[in-house]
Amino acid sequence: MPRFAAALSVCLLFTFAGSAVADDAPSRAGAIVKGKDEDAVADIMKTFNKALKVKCNFCHVREDGKFNYKKWTKHKRVALHMHTEYVAKLKNAEGGSINCNTCHQGRKTFLKKVAKGDE
Ligand code: HEC
Ligand code: HEC
Repeated sequence: MPRFAAALSVCLLFTFAGSAVADDAPSRAGAIVKGKDEDAVADIMKTFNKALKVKCNFCHVREDGKFNYKKWTKHKRVALHMHTEYVAKLKNAEGGSINCNTCHQGRKTFLKKVAKGDE
């Protein structure tokens, strides 16, 4: 097998192994939930609800009457990005870790207020 094809098939193997979740899963899929049991995942999800003051349906959609948590939506993608790029990488002024609520404080959005000088 030419080296390129071999490399490609290894890549594909990893891609499929990492995204058993859904065909259109982002590359960081699983960064929040992988290796955690159901209760731990539920606890994390509740912190999202609280930090943004939303319900589960802000990020997850129902199909045939029940939630399909595996399906990727716009807000679910943004949430994963916020986790991998902000929460996992940034520190507060004291060098401590941050979470969704550090910035959101019970709001989905807040930049318009900031721009208007309201906070
Ligand atoms: C702000 C967006 C957001 C909210 C609100 C949210 N979730 Fe999630 N949820 C996510 C993201 C992002 C993932 C994928 C995490 C990953 O890929 O590691 C996820 C994954 C999950 C999963 C695992 C799915 C899988 O692939 O196995 C479950 C179960 C779940 N959420 C349940 C809930 C429940 C129940 C609530 C409400 C209490 C909730 N979520 C609220 C963003 C959200
Ligand atoms: C370092 C600050 C910061 C952290 C930490 C942070 N966010 Fe955000 N987030 C923002 C900013 C800024 C916006 C844009 C707000 C606006 O448009 O007013 C935003 C927007 C969002 C949106 C889009 C809301 C919409 O209606 O368009 C989602 C969803 C979201 N964040 C989820 C999360 C989740 C879940 C976490 C924790 C894993 C998190 N964020 C952590 C700063 C942060």
